[in-house]
Amino acid sequence: MKVLAFETSCDETSVAVVESGFKVLSNVTRTHPEHSKYGGVVPELASRAHIRLIYPLTKLALDEANVGLDEIDGIAATYGPGLIGALLVGLLFAKTIAQVEGKPFLGINHLEGHIFSVLLTEKEIPLPLLVLIVSGGHTELVWVKDWLKYKVLGETLDDAAGEAFDKVAKLLGLPYPGGPEIDKLAVGGRPDAILFPRAKVEGLDFSFSGLKTAVLYHTKENGLPRNQQELQDLAASFQEATVDMLLEKSKKAIQIKNARAFAVVGGVSLNSRLREKFKRELSHKVLLYFPAPEYCADNAAMIGAVALKRFEKGKESPLNLKAVPNLKI
Ligand code: KG4
Ligand code: ZN
Repeated sequence: MKVLAFETSCDETSVAVVESGFKVLSNVTRTHPEHSKYGGVVPELASRAHIRLIYPLTKLALDEANVGLDEIDGIAATYGPGLIGALLVGLLFAKTIAQVEGKPFLGINHLEGHIFSVLLTEKEIPLPLLVLIVSGGHTELVWVKDWLKYKVLGETLDDAAGEAFDKVAKLLGLPYPGGPEIDKLAVGGRPDAILFPRAKVEGLDFSFSGLKTAVLYHTKENGLPRNQQELQDLAASFQEATVDMLLEKSKKAIQIKNARAFAVVGGVSLNSRLREKFKRELSHKVLLYFPAPEYCADNAAMIGAVALKRFEKGKESPLNLKAVPNLKI
């Protein structure tokens, strides 16, 4: 079976062709550079960019996969969570193709897509699987009992980890998205230069807004970094606090659930310090998985992976399916 999948929930337009066995035949993604100078995603600009990109990227994805629309067995698109205007572009485009071509259609939960992203890299992942989703919009610990059965164990009470990276970067005058910028700067900084507070939250929930405020107060008291070394130290210290908080709750969840397998997914799972520390502290306790870099940030291949599983179980969505901006897992 071959699925044509669309992802337009935020600021990446992505189209993929994925085949049974989670084989990615193509996965073409374009991020929208126009948000960079605003320090965050401007919803109206994102919708317009999706409209501009979706048709040429669809042609490209089919060309790269070397398949025609007639060889596609099902169409899928993200229907939430995300920005309403952005979601609507991919969803309407996908539903239209499904209707015109007479193909089955599925609306896919973006978060479920992130969970499935590990399957694009590693085919034999044992279940149950503990998953930490760390992205710009979400920070959640999810217990995957079966590939379509989930239980949320913990989530952020305020900002997502990626959002904290982006907001701190904005404060430091760095372009959006801030995560990769801070990651790069932190390489030359001392993680123990400034001791930022680690939030103490009950259970398996997270909180990052206190850390963000601590960085703001630090810059108010000491001024913005005066040279490259101070900037690198601040980036490394903030990053260390974020990674530590994610690691602490992950350890706790592994212990509570007696987990054997653990995956970290979403844009922030690209973070080099996170990967290094998680590998060092967890790989002797669990089988630890990260998606390949091209499947960490938003992409349509992960949406196609969920769709394959659902189509193979005989599932379909109605063509009047609506976008759900605050869809939960
Ligand atoms: O999964 P994703 O592409 O989109 C959402 O679903 O939100 O994640 C985007 C987030 C952004 O906040 C971005 O700053 C962050 O992932 N990110 C990183 C890194 N690369 C991307 N954060 C920390 N370190 C990175 N290397
Ligand atoms: Zn995402």
